[in-house]
Amino acid sequence: MRIVTVTNQKGGVGKTTLVCHLALAGVERGLRTLVVDLDTQGNASTMLARDAAVAQQPGGAAALFAEAPIAPTVTPNGLHLLHGHQRLDEVDQRVELADAARVRDRLRALPYDLVVIDTPPAIGLRHLGPQVWADLVVTPLEPNSFSLLALGQTLATIEEIRTIRPGLENRILINRFTRSSGQQNRYIELLGEHVPLTRPFLTLRVAVSDALDEGVPVWRFRRADRETRETWMELCGGLIGG
Ligand SMILES: Nc1ncnc2c1ncn2[C@@H]1O[C@H](COP(=O)(O)OP(=O)(O)O)[C@@H](O)[C@H]1O
Ligand SMILES: [Mg+2]
Repeated sequence: MRIVTVTNQKGGVGKTTLVCHLALAGVERGLRTLVVDLDTQGNASTMLARDAAVAQQPGGAAALFAEAPIAPTVTPNGLHLLHGHQRLDEVDQRVELADAARVRDRLRALPYDLVVIDTPPAIGLRHLGPQVWADLVVTPLEPNSFSLLALGQTLATIEEIRTIRPGLENRILINRFTRSSGQQNRYIELLGEHVPLTRPFLTLRVAVSDALDEGVPVWRFRRADRETRETWMELCGGLIGG
């Protein structure tokens, strides 16, 4: 089993978009794939289940923390989903990081090849726990001044997790990149001086969000240009493949 956690304490950087694409890439490759949505907004759940009502129901990902039976929803595209919902924030008050380490054993015992975890844009148990369980932590960043400002915090978190999980693989990924922006290119150069950046970079393309609105990954979306399709497919294949 490979557990891939997508995280960044900042919102709007593309975590949920990447989670959906990684999971859909997994299913396409015939991997038994589980998505764990730990965000109270449940956007990944709504998107993948093709049903807004799913994020209104209790249960889902909360079962992982509660010794309750783990009962994933099966989505139309064959994914298994432990959905996110408003009441997931109760987990933060009830569960400690030490207990959360036990969740890893529960996850590892499930019959999946690939587990992809979406996390909330906040520091806390649902942000740190999944990094402790993961084989790979991916942090998407938008190349702007805010990302640079938040980088210290991001790196500190990675170091903290590394003390618990020395072998953990980390990837910093540029998303929503506009190649023609001199400003963004300067930020990427600065970022690159501090951390290795995963390639290829993901550019800002409306086809990416439009594709997910229609329930397909961008490489299956007819209005996406060829480069965008190939880039996303290559990147997702690399991240889920190990
Ligand atoms: N590469 C991209 N090109 C175009 N839009 C993107 C791209 N990545 C993400 N988005 C859009 O940006 C917004 C925020 O993305 P989302 O995945 O929800 O971020 P997060 O989960 O980090 O809050 C969404 O509207 C999403 O469709
Ligand atoms: Mg999100």
